Amino acid sequence: MYRAVNEIDMGAELEKVLITKAEIDAKLLELAAEIDRDYAGKDLLIVGVLKGAVMVMADLARALSSRVTMDWMAVSSYGAGTKSSGVVRILKDLDTDIAGRDVLIVEDIIDSGLTLSWLISNLGSRGPASLEVCTLLRKPEAAKVEIDVKYTGFDIPNEFVVGYGLDYAEKYRNLPFVGTLAPHVYGG
Ligand code: IMP
Ligand code: MG
Repeated sequence: MYRAVNEIDMGAELEKVLITKAEIDAKLLELAAEIDRDYAGKDLLIVGVLKGAVMVMADLARALSSRVTMDWMAVSSYGAGTKSSGVVRILKDLDTDIAGRDVLIVEDIIDSGLTLSWLISNLGSRGPASLEVCTLLRKPEAAKVEIDVKYTGFDIPNEFVVGYGLDYAEKYRNLPFVGTLAPHVYGG
């Protein structure tokens, strides 16, 4: 269908592939079936968190058999580095009024959970009929925060990962798989 960046193209930059495109596709089909079932007869709004969730949104939305509407939010919590700052800013708000709506937040990854807990209270204060979370990836730290994540793709080790929407300094988002980078890429 398309010529995606592969492991060989990545050369010495790639340490390892953690989750293949085929594994992601299979998991999104499973999650989509659950979401279809849970929201049957409802008018679901899925909210993607830019930029990381672009790939998950695009593939999850196309795996759903129910018709949904899509909206986007952009928040910033990380700088160019790999540590969460805990400071969240809205860079782009929703175009949709979510009062009375069934809303599903779609995330790429939950690490410290700081971004998501902030987002849940922010969107929760707008009076949605329901508010749930779907994330492709979750790191162990996320288990320590009180966030009720309804749909989780993969629990992964506490490593910095890139690909499938996730970046390091804005690079590697277009890798079709999720992987880790060799230490020298971080200048280490
Ligand atoms: P949290 O607030 O620590 O849960 O992380 C929030 C955001 O940081 C995520 O939505 C990602 O955009 C980014 N992030 C967290 N962990 C990683 C990673 O391993 N690779 C790339 N981005 C990450
Ligand atoms: Mg994100």
